[in-house]
Amino acid sequence: MNNVVSLPLPAAVAAARTAHPPRIALLGTGNVGGAFVARCDALRAAGVPLPAFAWLSNSRALDPCVDGVPGLALERLRAAPPHPGPWSPWVEAESLRRGDILVDASASDLVAGWHGEWLARGIHVVTANKLGAGADGERARAVARAQLEGGACYGDAATVGAGLPLLRSIRDLRAGGDRIRAIAGVLSGSLAWLFDRYDGRRPFSGFVRQARDAGYTEPDPREDLSGEDVRRKLLILARAAGIALEAREVAVESLLTPALAAASHDAVDAALGDLDAPLRARYAAACKRSAKLGFIARLQCNDDGGIRATVGPEALDGADPLAAGAGTDNRVAIWSDRYRDQPLLIQGPGAGAGVTAAALVDDLLRIVAGR
Ligand SMILES: NC(=O)c1ccc[n+]([C@@H]2O[C@H](COP(=O)([O-])OP(=O)(O)OC[C@H]3O[C@@H](n4cnc5c(N)ncnc54)[C@H](OP(=O)(O)O)[C@@H]3O)[C@@H](O)[C@H]2O)c1
Repeated sequence: MNNVVSLPLPAAVAAARTAHPPRIALLGTGNVGGAFVARCDALRAAGVPLPAFAWLSNSRALDPCVDGVPGLALERLRAAPPHPGPWSPWVEAESLRRGDILVDASASDLVAGWHGEWLARGIHVVTANKLGAGADGERARAVARAQLEGGACYGDAATVGAGLPLLRSIRDLRAGGDRIRAIAGVLSGSLAWLFDRYDGRRPFSGFVRQARDAGYTEPDPREDLSGEDVRRKLLILARAAGIALEAREVAVESLLTPALAAASHDAVDAALGDLDAPLRARYAAACKRSAKLGFIARLQCNDDGGIRATVGPEALDGADPLAAGAGTDNRVAIWSDRYRDQPLLIQGPGAGAGVTAAALVDDLLRIVAGR
């Protein structure tokens, strides 16, 4: 397995510094994009110096924010009609300069495919979109290489744990000479919320609708229920740990039935009831053992170089640290050379537009400050 290269932040920032003041460009005006604009507005009002917006964009239109009020640009974009004909707002990134900061609050694979290109041009990328470093290994390696080439930063704290210090802790442990030996955790705030709320009596599908309406799930809740979202997060954590894990090497057990997995986008809501009977049976079996259901990602790195990676539902013993927490809490245990017997445990809210947007702004501020 190859090690994933990552550039120390201060060196990258120094390399990407320009004579121009940096500007922000935002892709995505949904839950997270909207919360990002609101947080920037609030910080600016509190006197925190933030770069100006160069433009904001969604899949339908781009707004150059000429009045300098991003909240108004957000409203205009949200009201924009579907774009007639082919529309590629990301190509507008051509107008960005070295040192500008592109914020990806979309879930677009096409946009994520551009992360490496922007970084190579010295444009910093701050992302909630996991498809940059959490998709195929070649793209993740291209992102790492482009940071070195362009001297720009890749702010990815929002991609796993919505800003909890998971990636940072793993990178710090490695920088301190530790090998990451294992990682296990609840990486999906939406699935954590679902398993926390589910009582075996009311239909599981009703809770899925509530989680979707509260903005806890991915835009398509099947991304969460299939385990795909968690697979991407485990890939991002593994790669931060220096393990070039590929998606096919992660054994994923999906909660979806074949019919729900195959349903067209418009038919998803009606097909959610397919989840109810299998989840009821799983819940009853766990209750019999006084266990608690959780959706768990595991990565085990053996001394002989062997890797085992799994994602799926598990019945957890009450004493298991991963069974603690509530609501949308993520809980992650990290074993390394120094934390060999007792793991480092990190827990906290890991879903929701507010914490995710806060993580984006934190990364942006770190880049602006050159930290
Ligand atoms: N919600 C959370 O708790 C959470 C937590 C961690 C990470 N995330 C990640 O944050 C991202 C955004 O999530 P969300 O809940 O805000 O999703 P959302 O509400 O569906 O918003 C997605 C936005 O992306 C825009 N978009 C799609 N394709 C685009 C393109 N090619 N160019 C520019 N914009 C494009 C969409 O445009 P239209 O409006 O035109 O459709 C929409 O405005 C996702 O990657 C998600 O995985 C979310």
